[in-house]
Amino acid sequence: MSALKHLAIIMDGNGRWAKQRGKMRTQGHREGIKTLREITKWCAKNHIAYLTLYAFSTENWNRPQTEVDFLMKLLEKYLIKERQTYLQNDIRFKTIGDMRAFNDPLKQTIQALQADTAHNTTLTQILALNYGSKDEIKRACEKIIQTQAYKHTSDTLKLIESHLDTQGIPDVDLLIRTGGEIRLSNFLLWQASYAELFFTPTLWPDFAPSELAEIIAHFKQRDRRFGGL
Ligand code: FPP
Repeated sequence: MSALKHLAIIMDGNGRWAKQRGKMRTQGHREGIKTLREITKWCAKNHIAYLTLYAFSTENWNRPQTEVDFLMKLLEKYLIKERQTYLQNDIRFKTIGDMRAFNDPLKQTIQALQADTAHNTTLTQILALNYGSKDEIKRACEKIIQTQAYKHTSDTLKLIESHLDTQGIPDVDLLIRTGGEIRLSNFLLWQASYAELFFTPTLWPDFAPSELAEIIAHFKQRDRRFGGL
C-alpha cells in the first residue's frame, strides 16, 4: 500500500467548462475557486500533509491581458476571503514560484496569509504562482552561483534541492491533471520525478472530492518501486 504525503494537482478546464455553458471564461475561473476550496478542505480532513496546486504558470502571462488581470484580482480576493478557511481548518499557506512579478498589494496579501498561518500543521497548501519548473531550476542555479555555495558542498543533489522553491517539502507522490490533456506543462518536473500520474477528463470546476477519493484509492494499490525491484 503506497503512502500519500504530497498530492499535486494541475487544475485545468475552467475555460472549457464556461464555454460549454455559454458563459465567459472568467466565470469558469470563479467556479474553479469553489473547487479549490472544497478540495483543499477535503485534503485537510483526510490527513494529506501537502497539497500543491498549479494556479498560475510562468506561461500564463501570455493570455489576454484582461484574463490575466482578472486572475490576479481573483487570487487576491480569494486569499483575503479564505483566511477563515485556513485558520478554521488548520491549513498552512505557502507559495512556490517567483513572487517578484506581482504587484505590491498582492505580494503583501500573500505574505500576510503566510505569516498568519505559519503555525498551522494539519495541511500545507502550496499555491504555484508565476511558477514554472524550468524557471525554478534556473533561479536555484543562479542562487548557487551567486553565493558560490557549490564550493562548500560534497552533495550537489542536496545543494540543488535546498535551493528549489520546494525546499523542505517532500517529493510529490501523486500528481493529478484534470481537463483531459496528458502533459505536465512545466509543473514540478524535479519533484514529481517518481510521482504516480493520473489524468482525468473531468473539467476542474466539476472535479469533486468523491473523484479525488477514487483516484487516491487506485493510487494506494499501485506498487511503487522507485527504480528498484
Ligand atoms: C486552467 O483553466 C486554469 C488556470 C489557468 C488556473 C487555475 C485557476 C483557478 C482554479 C482559478 C483561479 C485560482 C487562483 C488561485 C488564481 P484554463 O483556463 O486553462 O481552461 P481551458 O483549458 O479549458 O481553457
